[in-house]
Amino acid sequence: MNLLITGGAGFIGSHVVRLFVEAYPNYHVFNLDALTYAGNLQNLSDVEGKPNYTFLKGDITEAAFLEQIFRAHKFEAVIHLAAESHVDRSIAGPMAFVQTNVLGTVNLLEACRRAWAGDYAGKLFYHVSTDEVYGSLGEEGLFTEETPYDPRSPYSASKAASDHFVRAWHHTYGLPVKLSNCSNNYGPNHFPEKLIPLAIHNIKNGKPVPVYGKGENVRDWLYVLDHARAIDSIFHRGRVGETYNVGGVNEWRNLDLVELLCDVIDEKLGREPGSSRKLITFVKDRAGHDARYAIDSSKLMNELGWKPSVTFEEGLRKTVDWYLASEQWLEEVTSGHYRDYYRKQYEER
Ligand code: NAD
Ligand code: TYD
Repeated sequence: MNLLITGGAGFIGSHVVRLFVEAYPNYHVFNLDALTYAGNLQNLSDVEGKPNYTFLKGDITEAAFLEQIFRAHKFEAVIHLAAESHVDRSIAGPMAFVQTNVLGTVNLLEACRRAWAGDYAGKLFYHVSTDEVYGSLGEEGLFTEETPYDPRSPYSASKAASDHFVRAWHHTYGLPVKLSNCSNNYGPNHFPEKLIPLAIHNIKNGKPVPVYGKGENVRDWLYVLDHARAIDSIFHRGRVGETYNVGGVNEWRNLDLVELLCDVIDEKLGREPGSSRKLITFVKDRAGHDARYAIDSSKLMNELGWKPSVTFEEGLRKTVDWYLASEQWLEEVTSGHYRDYYRKQYEER
């Protein structure tokens, strides 16, 4: 099978590419990525030389380019992860989110529809999305696949729009699609603009750890490899036309999470216990900050037998170890544009 994975140089995409290249030597995995600030081929340096892997540099907003690669490589399935993914960036500049997440997704749907020309046997378009499309929860309840969409940030609105387009192409044109909506991921190769890698990076370097508002917002964290495993299960065994929610059953208040990270890093670096907590700095809240996300994954668990394979304790320790050992990776991704972004986001707040 010729399988197109978009956004494979990013955080989750790189883990999905590795899993598919290694587990399915009879598939040829094509990784299409524009290499934006979030895309980094270093994430896949161990996969680069594999005979069943090809990298294609390109932008999903360019329809003619997509048509050309579909013609050249005869893809039979697509796993679509390419996106602008950071809420704070979407607040500062929403148009890139509309371009990539909405227009880019529609371009891909059209490329599939044209290339497959109604012969959908053995074909699949799998769209990877987020739980943020469901909006914000109060203290009780979980997002299920039936929760009405209520996106509140430019990022989640653009992802919600893309989900709607994917379902529309299924209902209108019969395109075989599957969708999954996942909670917050963490793990190696996570770009240090997101909470967990940013906090690890700053704690390690003795820099202030910015916590928005009072740190009371709640997120449901899932280890990235468990998300990749869920994508594998849904891709192969999920039902066409269906959506599966993916979550960690692992809710954390931001402040508690950051305190835990401080303590784990103090222990690993032999610092005085509790000393890094002094770095926690409350900063201006995010505009429209969603209070709580939490996922009900029972459909995925019951139908496909998926469940998270690592506990949060294990996953977080593995993640901290990876960041402490990956000085060069961090050095590279935090130079240049990252520094400009960081100054604008935090120092000019
Ligand atoms: P990421 O920002 O780390 O990576 C996105 C990748 O897409 C990058 O490699 C980037 O270069 C590429 N890309 C961006 N615009 C592109 C374009 N126009 N054309 C081609 N490539 C482009 O994102 P991530 O955290 O790995 O998220 C991957 C997907 O999973 C996204 O669709 C996101 O909405 C979804 N998701 C993420 C999370 C999370 O916690 N990170 C949770 C649920 C769902
Ligand atoms: P983030 O990792 O950006 O993911 P998302 O907004 O998609 O959930 O943020 C996770 C939570 O952490 C969210 O409630 C915002 C908060 N946050 C901070 O308190 N400080 C920070 O520096 C960042 C980046 C996020």
